[in-house]
Amino acid sequence: MGMVRAAWFLLLLALLAAADARRQKGGETACDKGWECSGSRFCCNETITDYFKAYQFEELFAKRNNSLAHAAGFWDYKAFITAAALYEPRGFGTTGGREMSMKEVAAFLGHVGAKTSCGYSLADGGSLAWGLCYNHEMSPSQSYCDDSNELYRCAEGVEYYGRGALPVYWNYNYGIVGKGIKQDLLNHPELLEQNATLAFEAAIWRWMTPMKRKQPSAHDAFVGNWKPTKKDTLSKSRELAFEHMMTSL
Ligand SMILES: *[C@@H]1O[C@H](CO)[C@@H](O)[C@H](O)[C@H]1NC(C)=O
Ligand SMILES: *[C@@H]1O[C@H](CO)[C@@H](O)[C@H](O)[C@H]1NC(C)=O
Ligand SMILES: *[C@@H]1O[C@H](CO)[C@@H](O)[C@H](O)[C@H]1NC(C)=O
Repeated sequence: MGMVRAAWFLLLLALLAAADARRQKGGETACDKGWECSGSRFCCNETITDYFKAYQFEELFAKRNNSLAHAAGFWDYKAFITAAALYEPRGFGTTGGREMSMKEVAAFLGHVGAKTSCGYSLADGGSLAWGLCYNHEMSPSQSYCDDSNELYRCAEGVEYYGRGALPVYWNYNYGIVGKGIKQDLLNHPELLEQNATLAFEAAIWRWMTPMKRKQPSAHDAFVGNWKPTKKDTLSKSRELAFEHMMTSL
């Protein structure tokens, strides 16, 4: 999985860098102040819509509407941007200058791609082209209900299998994430496979929020807001710490 993520990340960076070069060369206006900007003071200035456009999203997730893709027609650019706009004021894709911002979005989408890909190395276009193929776990082996959790009790008739852009599993995780994005995911986990904006919101919320006490968020680890201490077994590099963060998401 680590290799797959790394490959995703490099591909995304290459695409973003190419687009950036094109943009600067062409001297075109970076933003048309369209729907994606309404209500955001961050919009169109070193923000995600400034360096990551719809056509790039289409290129990155080229096979997601293919007839073989399980979530065909579900994911779109607008959903990602709408969700991202809520977290840009908190630094998502807007921290540390353009290069760092682009890298963070690439890393985030790389993880999303790796976790939602149905591609195999022999798939048409290679496995990397098949991100956002799923929006939920296909053959759950259980309902992921932890009865011992008193804070987030399982709702009746509801299953907590993996759903979303960075799939959420288990009642307690649906409870925590639901609280984070202000949606009743404990009673309605299906929202994450019915609404792509909420699916991205949940994923970005988890990216921005520490999942365990004394751990940084993936965002903080990635942009360098958090420095590993000498005692940390994972202090070798930020990348390793970051990988560790991701596996705990
Ligand atoms: C973009 O943001 C920078 C830094 O916040 C600011 O200095 C600059 O004036 C802004 N440019 C525009 C066109 O809003
Ligand atoms: C894929 O489907 C989405 C949602 O229906 C749509 O917005 C997008 O344009 C489609 N992309 C392609 C490449 O067909
Ligand atoms: C998805 O959720 C968002 C945020 O709550 C909401 O604004 C939007 O209307 C929903 N979309 C659909 C298709 O239900």
